[in-house]
Amino acid sequence: MLVDEYEFRIRLALTGEVFMVPADKSIVEVLRENGIDIETCCEQGYCGTCMTRYLEGEPEHRDEVLDDEDREHYVLVCCARSRTEELVLDL
Ligand code: FES
Repeated sequence: MLVDEYEFRIRLALTGEVFMVPADKSIVEVLRENGIDIETCCEQGYCGTCMTRYLEGEPEHRDEVLDDEDREHYVLVCCARSRTEELVLDL
């Protein structure tokens, strides 16, 4: 999947690890590269398989699945970006 535009940082709440998500990669891809395997299916924001809780930051949601209430706590990490410099994931 082609992800565009800008880079941001993710931090994993449970381990404290911090990773940059470059403009041409998804959060899922960066996690995988660092040995953290998130289950995915469509990788395009349609199925909800990759739903992950976040604790801080403001995601830029790019999915077709979550409703407004879900979006307050969950992010689909195959397609979302971050509006804030850092997004803290409950991982
Ligand atoms: S893998 Fe389908 S929405 Fe992320």
